[in-house]
Amino acid sequence: MSSEVQEMFENIASRYDATNDVLSFGIHRLWRREAARLSGLTSGASVLDLCCGTGDFANAFSKLVSPSGVVIGVDFVNPMLRLAKQKYGDMIFMQADVLTLPFADKSFDGASIAFGIRNVDNIRQALCEIRRVLKHDGALVVLEFGTPTLPVFREFYRLYARHVMPLVGGLITKNRAAYEYLPRTAEQFPSGQEFLDILDQCRFKNLQLKKLLSGIAYIYTANNLSSEVKVGKSAANC
Ligand SMILES: C[S@@+](CC[C@H](N)C(=O)[O-])C[C@H]1O[C@@H](n2cnc3c(N)ncnc32)[C@H](O)[C@@H]1O
Repeated sequence: MSSEVQEMFENIASRYDATNDVLSFGIHRLWRREAARLSGLTSGASVLDLCCGTGDFANAFSKLVSPSGVVIGVDFVNPMLRLAKQKYGDMIFMQADVLTLPFADKSFDGASIAFGIRNVDNIRQALCEIRRVLKHDGALVVLEFGTPTLPVFREFYRLYARHVMPLVGGLITKNRAAYEYLPRTAEQFPSGQEFLDILDQCRFKNLQLKKLLSGIAYIYTANNLSSEVKVGKSAANC
């Protein structure tokens, strides 16, 4: 599965930003900014942005923590990272899988992941790995798609996501399947309270969520208040 996801993002990387702007009418930019703000991270913090894609979420954190802080963006798809480096040449980007991060325990004040967690093979394993690299009291912020809760709006959005997104995304990227995958994984993703329960099972604390546009997306924030780290254990034991 992850090799298929890798191949798909390699294939759409060069048109990824343009397609986001068109399909979200630019709203994704406001969401990233708001999510970074809600992290509570400030100047001087060290932040790991996971599934960083072309670097926009990492850049939102860079603005918050500069000039003395540092942001590292990580993704497993090279064409995405190449674009991130072109756009934000003064930032650090590296290739890694969120399931096996090449960082020591308790390295970062904050970790972030926008529109990435629903793509990983094992959400709990990824969250436990993220918690491993967070310092005690470190902040996690997740921005991810969900399903609108208002019934009329939900039906309208479902039509848009299932029909307009594949059509328009397919025309721009020449990869219709990638924009069928997007609404399918968003509908299947355990959003809202279900995702808070998963964060709780992965032993994050101070769990909060903010619903965006009736639940088209959510911002989740949490802290790592556990002092114990079990390296290399399965998600169930993390
Ligand atoms: C929808 S894009 C989001 C990119 C960026 N965070 C943003 O907000 O635009 C998802 C990204 O997650 C990356 N990704 C998916 N699974 C991954 C994994 N297991 N490890 C690292 N990156 C992953 C993909 O390569 C892709 O760049």
